Amino acid sequence: MLHDLNHLLNTKYPLIQGGMAWVASAELAAAVAEAGGLGLVAAGSMTPDLLRDEIRRTKRMTSRAFGVNIMLMNPFADQLAKVVVEENVPVVTTGAGSPGRYIEDWKKAGITVIPVVASVAYARRMENLGADAVIAEGTEAGGHIGELTTMVLIPQVADAVSIPVIAAGGVADGRGVAAARMLGASGVQVGTRFLASLECRIHDNYKQMVVKARDIDTLVTGRSGGHPVRTLKNSLARHLIEMEKRGASFEELEAVTIGSLRRAVQDGDLGEGSFMAGQSAGLVSCIEPAAVIIQTMFAQAEQLLGYSLCREVVR
Ligand SMILES: Cc1cc2nc3c(=O)[nH]c(=O)nc-3n(C[C@H](O)[C@H](O)[C@H](O)COP(=O)(O)O)c2cc1C
Repeated sequence: MLHDLNHLLNTKYPLIQGGMAWVASAELAAAVAEAGGLGLVAAGSMTPDLLRDEIRRTKRMTSRAFGVNIMLMNPFADQLAKVVVEENVPVVTTGAGSPGRYIEDWKKAGITVIPVVASVAYARRMENLGADAVIAEGTEAGGHIGELTTMVLIPQVADAVSIPVIAAGGVADGRGVAAARMLGASGVQVGTRFLASLECRIHDNYKQMVVKARDIDTLVTGRSGGHPVRTLKNSLARHLIEMEKRGASFEELEAVTIGSLRRAVQDGDLGEGSFMAGQSAGLVSCIEPAAVIIQTMFAQAEQLLGYSLCREVVR
């Protein structure tokens, strides 16, 4: 069943900007919020103090609702879970693990809780734990991924749960939004498209790599250790694949990957950086303001669907 995500998220458009570690800063989250989507600040590997500062910075840039993404493998996850309550963050999305032990406190604080899932069983588990919605993410996505494609994951999750399903993985234009609705998703989460937004504060080399990428320019590393990650092809990604073929251990692989996303984001290190991006990079051909990306995406989606997805937001 399709739900009114704008009502749940207090947005104009049923769109969440993906929480992207090192990437999703106050500037991007505020720009997306101002444009009518739900912007997210990604806690990624932040300390609690850093996250608090970033939330306060975002609040200074927008009066609209925004959320926080917490990667549960962050060693500070317990403290980050408290920061979002103390700072009155309205929506929290979670990745890389179960938010089970935080849900009760978050719900008491009135937080809308939306875990990222990559399978039907996990979506059901999250619904039973009290999640308000799930983001079902297909393997096309950038960053840490599961195995199922968006095309098959979304309808199966939509059949299995009665909470809203948000589609992630491969959505970069209005066709993706319309398709996601057809598959049973009430809205979308978009990551890769926003890498090439004006307000995204990543190194220009990173943006140019996304813009220039073709359909076949991503690959998946880390499968051997059970933590697959989709990045753009470069020498680091090829080196990791070679190491995995040789049977390198998790520790050996980690020694090469540690700090590599930061090297891509901050230094634009074309050789040693990890340029996480999804297969939809092939659909991205220009850098535009987040507001233009969102307006273009939804104008196209609404034309294809023949109905409006937009709601006027009360500030
Ligand atoms: C550079 C990058 C970093 C990401 N970091 C996170 C993260 O910290 N937490 C998370 O839940 N998802 C993370 N993701 C996944 C996104 O939030 C989003 O679900 C995904 O990008 C959607 O698919 P798309 O890339 O095809 O748009 C990341 C994705 C990218 C591209």
